[in-house]
Amino acid sequence: MPTKRKSLSGSVLVLHGPNLNLLGSREPELYGRETLADIDRRLKAAAHSQGMVVASFQSNHEGALIDRIHQARDEGIRFIIINPAGYTHTSVALRDALLAAKIPFIEVHLSNVHAREAFRRHSYFSDAAVGTICGLGSRGYDFALGYALSRLSGKGGS
Ligand code: DQA
Repeated sequence: MPTKRKSLSGSVLVLHGPNLNLLGSREPELYGRETLADIDRRLKAAAHSQGMVVASFQSNHEGALIDRIHQARDEGIRFIIINPAGYTHTSVALRDALLAAKIPFIEVHLSNVHAREAFRRHSYFSDAAVGTICGLGSRGYDFALGYALSRLSGKGGS
């Protein structure tokens, strides 16, 4: 008998870029001690409590992230929360994928990218994002999800 998969249509996708799989041990003074699994688990539980679904995906490869965004369009994902990590400052191709998919997104960074090296101040995503959150650690994802869920449920956000 085929296994029944929960449809992702209408749900939120959280995308994590390169090196974020190392969260917890990677420069904890900058990025905190929580692992990516901790963060994803919390987001999924928060969405579930409101009858919504969150899918998450991490990759260290630009093309894999782009393919996941294309897939999101086909699945009917309605909102993306993305931490493009190092690709924030380099990737026209990832930006293009988000624009092509026409899925609204929030850009999240754990650290305050404006208080670090100059090259981190430029983002290929911010001007196309619904909003950006940085410097609030993993709570930034919670705030972004709160916004996305209220927007999708028609309770707030434009
Ligand atoms: C980051 C900031 C980026 O500059 C860096 O390359 C990362 C993580 C953040 O979440 O603070 O990998 O996106």
